[in-house]
Amino acid sequence: MTVTAQNANHISVLLQEVIHALMSDENKAVQNPWFMDGTLGLAGHSKTLLQEFQKIGIKANLCGLDRDPDALARASENLKDFGGQCHLFESDYASFENVLPEIQNPLFNGVLLDLGVSSLQLDVAERGFSYHKEGPLNMRMDKGYLQKREAKPYSETAYSFVNKADFNTLKQVIAELGEEPQAGRIARSIVDKRQEKPIENTKELADIVYYAYPPKWRATARNHPATRTFQAIRMYVNDELGQLNKFLDRILDHVAPNGIIAIITFHSLEDRTVKQKFKEWATDCICPAHIPVCVCNHKKTAEVLTKKPILPSKEECMLNPRAGSAKLRIAKKLG
Ligand SMILES: C[S@@+](CC[C@H](N)C(=O)[O-])C[C@H]1O[C@@H](n2cnc3c(N)ncnc32)[C@H](O)[C@@H]1O
Repeated sequence: MTVTAQNANHISVLLQEVIHALMSDENKAVQNPWFMDGTLGLAGHSKTLLQEFQKIGIKANLCGLDRDPDALARASENLKDFGGQCHLFESDYASFENVLPEIQNPLFNGVLLDLGVSSLQLDVAERGFSYHKEGPLNMRMDKGYLQKREAKPYSETAYSFVNKADFNTLKQVIAELGEEPQAGRIARSIVDKRQEKPIENTKELADIVYYAYPPKWRATARNHPATRTFQAIRMYVNDELGQLNKFLDRILDHVAPNGIIAIITFHSLEDRTVKQKFKEWATDCICPAHIPVCVCNHKKTAEVLTKKPILPSKEECMLNPRAGSAKLRIAKKLG
């Protein structure tokens, strides 16, 4: 099977591998399987999945979520040929249980998360995700991007974080979520600069980070010095790790026997979170090692299908540099 999904703004990562996993033999034997795409984006993966099932005479149903109203509108347009099969919701994926009553609480035969931002989001300067483009410091994936800085009811934007967080918080977020070795210098520069005037836009922030880097590091850096800092702030503002943990804690209750859970991550902390949760699902006892007799009553509920994560091929990375850091892990709920 050769499948491709390239929208004007976004190329779907590890597409063949995801479709292959979700079109398991068990799922091909279900009459009207249900799938959940928690990070619908432009619906590249989901549309291909529905098309591939259609080719073998199966009408699959899709529950698609995205917290970004613009992405959802684009996905809806891309999925128009599958109208009645698609149920799309503007929601963060950690809150998926809120929408299930609207579709009669199906058990899902397959679930997909393709984390991070889409190229559509990166390309729009007003969203403030990119240091390449001058835009307001926002970085909200949800409607919060429409807000002006700290307006209620939406919570933190990149602007409020960069201009309000104390030195230690800035340093910790940039170090942990950005895995940035120069986090201390960057946090110090941000705190110094904002004393002169608030840091207003992506260009100002990118310049501050650039000049905070020691000149030798700057000269040898493979990417723009602001890459990791922008990633850290985006992950913080959107609580991306919190979302993933909350989702993993609840999803298995909504997966059908033999159902597939496929997750693409782009960050080592996300990958570790998925790896650990899958391991927990696949283990009978999760008591700490020092406890001699099992007291947890935990039972194995799933099997891990990827001992090591699936990585994109060299060809895919050449065609789509964004795929470079992608890792796909797949688990299957026990029958
Ligand atoms: C990498 S894109 C998905 C691309 C999609 N798989 C495709 O092939 O078109 C990630 C999408 O997930 C959305 N997203 C990220 N975190 C989310 C969350 N916690 N809840 C819901 N949507 C989220 C983003 O708004 C973005 O549209």
